[in-house]
Amino acid sequence: MGIRIIGTGYYVPERVLTNSDLEKIVDTSDEWIQSRTGIRTRHIAEESTATSDLAMHAGQRAIENAGLTPADIDLVVVSTITPDSPTPSTATIVQRKLGIPPCMAFDIEAACTGLLYGLDIVHAMLAAKHRKTALLIGGDKLSGVTNWTDRSTCILFGDAASALVVQRTDEGDEDFYVASEVSANGYEAGFLQIPGFGSACPPSQEGIDAHAYTIQMNGPKTFQMAVISMSNACRNVMEKAHVTHDQISWAIAHQANDRIISAVADRVGISDRIYRNVARFGNTSSASIGICLDELNRSGQLKRGDLILTAAFGAGLTWAAELLRW
Ligand code: ACO
Repeated sequence: MGIRIIGTGYYVPERVLTNSDLEKIVDTSDEWIQSRTGIRTRHIAEESTATSDLAMHAGQRAIENAGLTPADIDLVVVSTITPDSPTPSTATIVQRKLGIPPCMAFDIEAACTGLLYGLDIVHAMLAAKHRKTALLIGGDKLSGVTNWTDRSTCILFGDAASALVVQRTDEGDEDFYVASEVSANGYEAGFLQIPGFGSACPPSQEGIDAHAYTIQMNGPKTFQMAVISMSNACRNVMEKAHVTHDQISWAIAHQANDRIISAVADRVGISDRIYRNVARFGNTSSASIGICLDELNRSGQLKRGDLILTAAFGAGLTWAAELLRW
């Protein structure tokens, strides 16, 4: 039995928001944003676009890249913190929009770590032979949960979705999933949250006035926790797999901030092989790792057998590192 990632895809909406555009909305500057985050542009969806629309396009591209059709998919998992609605799940909406036949479809929520949480779940389900071909999507329309008057957060985020097709084959013994650490610490959740909208804080005018339905973040604390969690998890995973940093072909850390990526890369000893595209997309939450994988895949920079070290960190607080074999 073998399990492999056989298709990748991503989608971003057309509209680009530059740092100069943001200078007109809040008290900030291109110089500050670039020097503190590395971000130059981000893509922002139209109001009428839902997360499922972003996810559908990404999913379609990944299925085509795998050389399959929607009829081949028997599991749909969508990671998102911005579902179309509380119910039905965005996964079932994407299933319908893509024309995937009836099969198991559900959402998961682990914020920016969501795609890596999803890979762990999908891998386990395929390994247990419950399903054969999974479509895993990380997608978020963060512009809809952004406080556009808060300069410390509104400069960071972009809208996007990315998708992976993961398949179990009965030939060969290849398994893309080499080693992982997937974890959470709910005791520190207050540093990064959208406090309102759910059962603990139902929709109200007071909530709207207090920006309870938008991302609230302690930036410096989140920065510090992101660096510590991702670097420790990377080192633990490499140790588990008996792999040294010179054996890693590519490293992909969640694209939240260029300085976070550099700090993790330095600590893990992989600065020369760390992939970066945060300048173009900003922080796209659970889409970010899949966008990097797709860009590497389509540009022919991945060779069969390459070891790819991935790491993510997000609200929860959640984090993960996964060592993947291409
Ligand atoms: N433009 C100009 N000045 C700004 C801006 C801005 N956009 N934002 C903040 N500042 C100011 C602050 O007000 C502060 O001013 P003061 O010293 O007069 O009080 C000063 O810049 C420094 O603020 P800090 O917050 O300390 O700046 P820092 O260097 O930490 O950068 C940032 C802020 C970019 C948010 C950084 O902390 C960061 O990237 N944190 C991590 C974000 C992240 O990774 N999130 C991931 C998860 S998101 C998710 O899960 C959905």
